[in-house]
Amino acid sequence: MNPLSGREFSPFYVMELVRQAQEYEDVVHFEIGAPDLPPPPGVRRALQKAVESGAFGYTESRGLEELRRKIAEHYGRRYDLDLDPARVIVTPGSSLAFLIAYEMLAGPGDRIAMADPSYPCYKNFAAMVDAQPHFVEVGAEQGYLLDPRSLEGVSRLRAVHISTPSNPTGTLYPPERLRALALWCRERGVALISDELYHGLVYDQREHTALEYSDEAIVINGFSKSFCMPGLRLGWMVVPPGMVRMAEILAQNLYLSAPTLSQYAALEAFDYDYLEEVRQTFRRRRDWLHGELSQILPVSAPPDGAFYLWCDASGYCDDARRLSEELLRQVQVAVTPGIDFGRNGTKRALRFAYTRPIEEMEEGIARLRRFFS
Ligand SMILES: Cc1ncc(COP(=O)(O)O)c(C=O)c1O
Repeated sequence: MNPLSGREFSPFYVMELVRQAQEYEDVVHFEIGAPDLPPPPGVRRALQKAVESGAFGYTESRGLEELRRKIAEHYGRRYDLDLDPARVIVTPGSSLAFLIAYEMLAGPGDRIAMADPSYPCYKNFAAMVDAQPHFVEVGAEQGYLLDPRSLEGVSRLRAVHISTPSNPTGTLYPPERLRALALWCRERGVALISDELYHGLVYDQREHTALEYSDEAIVINGFSKSFCMPGLRLGWMVVPPGMVRMAEILAQNLYLSAPTLSQYAALEAFDYDYLEEVRQTFRRRRDWLHGELSQILPVSAPPDGAFYLWCDASGYCDDARRLSEELLRQVQVAVTPGIDFGRNGTKRALRFAYTRPIEEMEEGIARLRRFFS
């Protein structure tokens, strides 16, 4: 008997690559999608204090009130929005927020639109609620962005799910497109889910949240990327007022409460001077890697944010997965092959993460030059 009742879940190839990379010494890592910088200094102190004060119980399912208030204030500071903390639900990583959103919005046979390529877990969360992912192919011609025009006529469409800036392409939705999507969704009673986990890591433009354009949008964010706290497993979602209770009930059932120690630590995460240093560090790395890498492989998506460059390896191979295995075997450079992120143009794509210092990336680029010459 199939224990998954015929549902299909795809594995994360990059995790296998990370495992393979451990078998080699002296690997240069371009595959890791997590920041290498420490969290804001106050976070460590708050965590220690929480341990000493014995904060080992559950919290309220929606999360500590003080943390939800600070998250709401963050929307005031960053986007000039007045957000009611009652609409914030704290989650164990942003990952569980997707599950809550999908559980609330879609059931068997319903469709959730998402870009191809996009973050691989979205389609797996759709499978968990027996919904169908509706993949919209986006490439260089579409600027790697979803356009409302490509969504017309999709039957049983319950939600449109975007990520801005995107993993794997690093592309940011400009305000006009975000507004157009938000309005299109609102007019048709379709939910807009905006994954804004990489906000804070946008380099040349102002970032906009979908909440600026619609109170009906579900916005998901967290502490794993720009706050440099991935292992504390903490995220949040902002839901429309009418969905708060349902989201709370799902949170109670799925995880009771997000990790308590992490929530206390996160109270000190909104250290804007430090967060700006983090952003500048990643910006320098992006500029450097983009300059170097484009002499070897075309970078096909505009690297607006997050910490990824999406590259076209078709000049060298038909199968980027094989290429990534050869890179690891021959020159000990670990890179993520595109196939993790969908089917559209992914077979010959590679995703480079700039999550290591420039000195390490210099060695990686030297090895790549050797390999490709
Ligand atoms: C676009 C995107 N969304 C969500 C996640 C989930 O992260 P977490 O559960 O650590 O918040 C990731 C992780 O890499 C991601 O890249």
